[in-house]
Amino acid sequence: VSGPVRIGLLGRGTVGGAFLDLVGERADAIEAATGRRPEISGVLRRSEGEFEEILAASEIVVELMGGTDPAREYVLRAVREGKHVVSANKQLIAQHGDELFGAAREAGVQLRFEAAVAGVIPVIRVIQESLAATEVSKVFGIVNGTTNFILTEMAKTGASYSDALARAQELGYAEADPSDDVGGADAAAKMAILARLAFHTPVRLDDVAFEGIENVRPDDLAYAKEFGLSLKLLGVAERHTDAISVRVFPCFLYRGHPLAPVEGPFNAVIVEAPSITEITMSGPGAGGTETASAVLGDVVSIVAGKAPVHAVREQLEVFEDVGSAFYLHLEVADRPGVLAQIAAVLGDNRVSVKSVVQWGLGDDARLVMVMHESPESRFYAALDEIAKLEVLRSPPRAIRVIEEEFV
Ligand SMILES: NC(=O)c1ccc[n+]([C@@H]2O[C@H](COP(=O)([O-])OP(=O)(O)OC[C@H]3O[C@@H](n4cnc5c(N)ncnc54)[C@H](OP(=O)(O)O)[C@@H]3O)[C@@H](O)[C@H]2O)c1
Repeated sequence: VSGPVRIGLLGRGTVGGAFLDLVGERADAIEAATGRRPEISGVLRRSEGEFEEILAASEIVVELMGGTDPAREYVLRAVREGKHVVSANKQLIAQHGDELFGAAREAGVQLRFEAAVAGVIPVIRVIQESLAATEVSKVFGIVNGTTNFILTEMAKTGASYSDALARAQELGYAEADPSDDVGGADAAAKMAILARLAFHTPVRLDDVAFEGIENVRPDDLAYAKEFGLSLKLLGVAERHTDAISVRVFPCFLYRGHPLAPVEGPFNAVIVEAPSITEITMSGPGAGGTETASAVLGDVVSIVAGKAPVHAVREQLEVFEDVGSAFYLHLEVADRPGVLAQIAAVLGDNRVSVKSVVQWGLGDDARLVMVMHESPESRFYAALDEIAKLEVLRSPPRAIRVIEEEFV
């Protein structure tokens, strides 16, 4: 094949606009590298362009509209017409991946989506290509920049959740409606995509258990500092023998953990496998130019003609009762025997305590404890009992902790 590569662009917003600029800037370099010059064959917006015309004029369709409707329809049409597709749309890939990958395979075209997860960090490429021969055991990290910015701001300034969110909105790190980000749904979609690729199994969005950061309080962060802990919203996808778990939750990390220094709107992803130990990748998780750069990288890969290996091998079960370590924050009556009473409840449920710090507050005391890992069902059973104790002054606050300091 020779001559220009004709690219149809669906969506010209933050990322689409930056993509147009980048194609202009990089056209000479791409032509020099691949022998083919990228050209925009048409642009679709609500107020501009006609889909069928753009489709007919294009060899590659770049979907940067967002949402699943009409993006799903357009991507399916493009694939069935034999066009390669690049998309940055995590909701589309997470919800309709099976259908879209199937259609692409049938049509013999590529569907690439590096920018859908962790922005410009090449995590999809690393899992699909660099680690194509590796049995991945775990993929985890910070895949939402909005929440990482908010948590960093809370930890640094002592701001409340709502003040930190307002600051993120002011700086453009959070949208006017931030619910998908702060509630964990955005990270859940990205983790569903990563788990699918890493473990070669279909992962439905419903399979991902997620929690957000809306209930994190400045107190949680202040007291955790005593233990050298920092709080992150983590996505964790793990392979158990013949099952997987995919989850998103706020989590404390010790200072030595490779994700602990990842601050502000940055993202970072760690891939673990017995044969490689681990790889950590970090970088900007969003931004028009950064995301557009990942999209253009996918376009160049298609032009270069190398298709990623992607095969679903088996349907793995979802593992229910994962093990976690927890941080527990209790306000209790300052009386002799209280700590023993709480330790007894934990002991009865076979949850063991790693460390305890106690502060006096007049008649009350504050207890901050870190547990060792146990099945979550056992910890939550203990927590239910603790919540009912007469000595408790307010509902207990529990947040997960990753125990290892460094792998
Ligand atoms: N922004 C980021 O930093 C970032 C990072 C990673 C991934 N992404 C993903 O990239 C995609 C685009 O994000 P964005 O921030 O660039 O969005 P955006 O600024 O809202 O732009 C969306 C564009 O799509 C067009 N569009 C939407 N619905 C349409 C429809 N039904 N028909 C025709 N055109 C339609 C809009 O047209 P009008 O101009 O006429 O409104 C607009 O040009 C999303 O999937 C997003 O999740 C974004």
